[in-house]
Amino acid sequence: MSDNITIFDTTLRDGEQSPGCSMSTPEKMEVAKALVDLGVDVIEAGFPIASPGDFEAVKMIAEAYGDRTTICGLARCRVEDIDRAWDALKEAQDVRIHVFLATSAIHREHKLKMAKEEILRQSVEMVKYTVDKMAARPDITTPNVEFSPEDAARTELDFLCEVVERTIEAGAKTVNIPDTVGYATPSHFYHVIKTLKDKVSNIDKAVISTHCHNDLGLAVANSLACVEAGARQIECTINGLGERAGNAALEELVMAIRTRKDYYGVTTNIVSEKLYPTSRLVSSITGMKVQRNKAIVGQNAFAHEAGIHQHGMLQNASTYEIMRPKDVGFVGTNLVLGKHSGRHAFRDRVVQLGYTLDDETFQKVFEDFIALADKKKDVYDTDITALVEQRSHQAPTTWTMSKFHVFAGMGTIPTATIALTHEDGHTSQDASTGDGPVDAAFRCLERIVGTEATLREYNVRSVSSGKDAMGEVTVEIDANGRTYHGKGLSTDIIEASALAYLQALNKSIATNGNGREPHTSHGV
Ligand code: KIV
Ligand code: ZN
Repeated sequence: MSDNITIFDTTLRDGEQSPGCSMSTPEKMEVAKALVDLGVDVIEAGFPIASPGDFEAVKMIAEAYGDRTTICGLARCRVEDIDRAWDALKEAQDVRIHVFLATSAIHREHKLKMAKEEILRQSVEMVKYTVDKMAARPDITTPNVEFSPEDAARTELDFLCEVVERTIEAGAKTVNIPDTVGYATPSHFYHVIKTLKDKVSNIDKAVISTHCHNDLGLAVANSLACVEAGARQIECTINGLGERAGNAALEELVMAIRTRKDYYGVTTNIVSEKLYPTSRLVSSITGMKVQRNKAIVGQNAFAHEAGIHQHGMLQNASTYEIMRPKDVGFVGTNLVLGKHSGRHAFRDRVVQLGYTLDDETFQKVFEDFIALADKKKDVYDTDITALVEQRSHQAPTTWTMSKFHVFAGMGTIPTATIALTHEDGHTSQDASTGDGPVDAAFRCLERIVGTEATLREYNVRSVSSGKDAMGEVTVEIDANGRTYHGKGLSTDIIEASALAYLQALNKSIATNGNGREPHTSHGV
């Protein structure tokens, strides 16, 4: 049995399925690139039959990255799903189709209304169909087909063994055992995998995989128990994103396997230093914040407040630290640069923080840094990270803000005056009042771009420490029946709010075009 664990990332499929986490195709491409750089072995890029957008994203990701990692598309056990998945994948180099059908009594009776025999027959037929479809491509000698008996954790064990044996016989090269509703516990799921290993006669012809949901907060523990029992693929997501309480968190699994190599005796191909930047990227694109005390990638993950800990840490870091922050690419709040630090020092720091920027992006980030250093004395690593991320994300910029003025205070009517420049070159300016300066700015932006939106969430946080710290505002809006996220950065939090709202509106415009003609528009 191999001692390398295949890391199968489903952030772009199961993660994206969770409410409020949908991503546009360019955003999915950006996450896919980060996953490739992270060293993920399989990327489940989407569910091609779900929508034309999903199909397009899977196709683009497969064609862009299928030469660096395996790209997978999900399909139900239906001919039309499998055909659609294959159409999205067929031009790409290294691809997998993942077919699934529920097997538990509760799903058989209430969802599928199918008897065990029908489930078995359909699973086998559809695995064979997928194998034949893929094998028709001359260069594919071993079709990469994965089968999942959905809700396996609540499936009768003897029936589960039968389904697994018959789908392996039909050609499945990976059999994934999902805990679809997060019902399993570690010793229970260990027993499930161990039974499959002991009782399924052809189990050595396939890789056993696991896919755990986190409803009881046990997804990572259950996945690790499966590894102990012999699973050699883990399905997981960045930041544990996913339906309801999410999936097993990739970063936690990878670091548990690495930190406790003495116990598990297995490895992964993940470049652990990229865990933190990838987590930030996914959080920023989906708008799903990472809790401060989240293991591995939370802001407090490496903070030591208690005096007794600090004393021990100063003597020897290993007293209270089982991983080094740099192992996961964690960026602290070290003071590094100021107004007089030159271009070279800045470039060095950007490289040390793990970013590779093209010249054009570097120039923009450097200009942002100079502007920031003019406003605030000390620039921290977290500030630099925020500036780099702001410039490197490919958010649409149909409109950019060229002037911004707010007037607010006690006894006055808050008013915002904003000028936006369209990518075609023309500028529009307008003014609006509101309940407060943020409301006035949001209303003004909506008037200029001609899109109405509802603000669902608004958060502001300080990027680093000190009264002059930059504020990072994140917003979630509903516009034209969809949800969009935006992020803005400035030492002025009202301006950061306007930038965040504008980014979200730009995303909506990129998807739908303008909802209506602008209310007023004055050429400037
Ligand atoms: O949770 C689940 O069962 C799934 C399957 C499609 C593998 O996501
Ligand atoms: Zn799932």
